[in-house]
Amino acid sequence: MARIYAIANQKGGVGKTTTVVNLSAYLAGSGRRVLVVDLDPQANATSALGFDKNQMKPSTYELLLDQAPVGDVRLRHDEFGLDLLPSHPALAGAEIELVQAIGREYRLQRALQETADEYDYILIDSPPSLGLLTVNALTAARDGVLIPVQCEYLPLEGLSQLTKTIHLVQEYLNPALHIRGVMMTMYDSRTNLSRQVVEEVRRHFPNKVFRTIIPRNIRLSEAPSFGRPINFYAPQSPGAVAYRLLATELLNGDRRNGGGEHAE
Ligand SMILES: Nc1ncnc2c1ncn2[C@@H]1O[C@H](COP(=O)(O)OP(=O)(O)O)[C@@H](O)[C@H]1O
Ligand SMILES: [Mg+2]
Repeated sequence: MARIYAIANQKGGVGKTTTVVNLSAYLAGSGRRVLVVDLDPQANATSALGFDKNQMKPSTYELLLDQAPVGDVRLRHDEFGLDLLPSHPALAGAEIELVQAIGREYRLQRALQETADEYDYILIDSPPSLGLLTVNALTAARDGVLIPVQCEYLPLEGLSQLTKTIHLVQEYLNPALHIRGVMMTMYDSRTNLSRQVVEEVRRHFPNKVFRTIIPRNIRLSEAPSFGRPINFYAPQSPGAVAYRLLATELLNGDRRNGGGEHAE
């Protein structure tokens, strides 16, 4: 059974997509069977993996509307060694189109049930909001949520809103949901602010913050326009080294946390 993680934070630009793409690529590189799920209408993860988002039909839009099964939506990327459920800008309409739908919060969870056995890791990228798409991601995330936090901005107000949503989803929709970990991104060692943010977030989420800190690194921001994860674009760069270490830290934590079975 795959471990299923949602990567969520309703603030845009904090490194969700960068984390999904590069963490997935390193997990795949270490021999894990990986599925990336792009649940953001901006489809940045889809583009960052080299696909033309405007050509993605069917996409996670058809998947959520029950118009296409996982097998029809899924794309294989042989070079990167991973699979993708791509997004398309049409997904923006799903929030409204699903309002009346039965089981609207469970659409992704159900779709992934069909395929979870085929993977070791399923990572879900989510949009910068706490709407129905993010709720679908959190409801499907039976092994928890990973929260990227940008070191350049004191985030505590936004984080308590996110924590509230996580608690609500846990109470009503997905009892297994918990915070698997918080990753600090875009760290700039030259600024006091970066250090302060890391300290504060560690205080706020004791024992949840990954030891590996992702530095601000130009290579990480260039790679998406080449449609390549960092291990294929600039494998020696500091950003690549950090994401490789993060993948190792996640794998080690998951191994301690119950062999091949999924957590808790
Ligand atoms: N560690 C980093 N160093 C430099 N640029 C980064 C880093 N992480 C993300 N970026 C860039 O910052 C922008 C926002 O990141 P992204 O992963 O798209 O955030 P989100 O998905 O949360 O909106 C993107 O242009 C991305 O390339
Ligand atoms: Mg994104």
